[in-house]
Amino acid sequence: MKTFLTFQNFWENMKNNRIVITGGSGFIGSHFARYIITNEKESDIFNIDSLTYAGDNRRLEDILGNPRYHFIRCDIRDKSNLTRYLKEIKPDVIFHFASETHVDNSIEEPSDFITTNINGTFNILELVKAHRAKLIHISTDEIYGDRKIKSPLFGEDSNFNPSSPYSASKASQEMLINSYMRTYGICAVIIRPCNHFGPFQHREKFIPKSITNALNGKPIEVYGNGENIREWIYVDDGCKAIYLIFRRGKPSEIYNIGSGFTISNINLAKEILRLTGCPESLIKFVKDRPGHDRLYGVNFSKLRRLGFRPQTSLTAGLKKTIEWYREHI
Ligand SMILES: NC(=O)c1ccc[n+]([C@@H]2O[C@H](COP(=O)([O-])OP(=O)(O)OC[C@H]3O[C@@H](n4cnc5c(N)ncnc54)[C@H](O)[C@@H]3O)[C@@H](O)[C@H]2O)c1
Repeated sequence: MKTFLTFQNFWENMKNNRIVITGGSGFIGSHFARYIITNEKESDIFNIDSLTYAGDNRRLEDILGNPRYHFIRCDIRDKSNLTRYLKEIKPDVIFHFASETHVDNSIEEPSDFITTNINGTFNILELVKAHRAKLIHISTDEIYGDRKIKSPLFGEDSNFNPSSPYSASKASQEMLINSYMRTYGICAVIIRPCNHFGPFQHREKFIPKSITNALNGKPIEVYGNGENIREWIYVDDGCKAIYLIFRRGKPSEIYNIGSGFTISNINLAKEILRLTGCPESLIKFVKDRPGHDRLYGVNFSKLRRLGFRPQTSLTAGLKKTIEWYREHI
């Protein structure tokens, strides 16, 4: 069996010319595709996306004509087609964003979360191994589960304790990747970001749904008593962090992405109403989500040591996002 080295200089010397992004037509993947095409001027970018309900190539209209950008419609569960495409591409790096991502959907009907997130990642890993490519895997802070009030922030060495089929499928991806690093010596980095927000996010998610409802004079629905606390990062900052980890991170390491901007859902709803000029009477409390995590929050000092500082505050990011939805509603 062929194995390959995982030394830092080997990682640094690997080529970055042929970059695959899975899920590049989704929310974060599309922002990242734009970011990397601007920053990696010598590279070709191959976006592999099956265009589920969450994928939308209008997110990438401004780079569609770029000769270094290529779109391939392919389901990562379809191993034979995926293998055929990657044989042609010969990837140096794979950024793996493609996943089913909406927690509520995973509670309603988990099967796509198992097949895409776990089986699809298994297919990606087989091809990372075959092509000796670098893998930059996008996981989530939700794999840590609920944090107790006053307990320390989650560090990269905290235990997995996923609460939803979504977060369990993301934790499973990581377990598979770990096994491929240990057993086959693949080069991978795992990234665990906190909640992202910004332009072009699907309206099923809390911030875009609340903004568009407020702008249409409809109620903002808040689960339970709204005391659930989340950490939010503006999507441009999130993409910068992923890029920084790709450029300066170490192989086989895990990096949390945080912002330090934590807020309860009820206070976030109030802030959105304040910034859209709508009354707080639009808030409507609805039955809590089963297994709803109360508190998140990650320690991202490892990422800070790579030089990362979030540039956009929660309020500044919300203002930009609201402006975008006003124009695109
Ligand atoms: N959005 C967040 O706040 C957040 C936070 C932490 C981690 N993440 C992780 O970041 C990644 C991207 O999240 P997002 O919010 O941009 O997701 P998204 O739901 O907006 O986009 C997912 C993309 O993946 C594609 N996709 C889904 N199943 C596929 C399949 N079987 N084959 C090929 N393509 C498929 C979809 O078409 C879509 O373009 C995910 O892995 C997610 O778990 C997201």
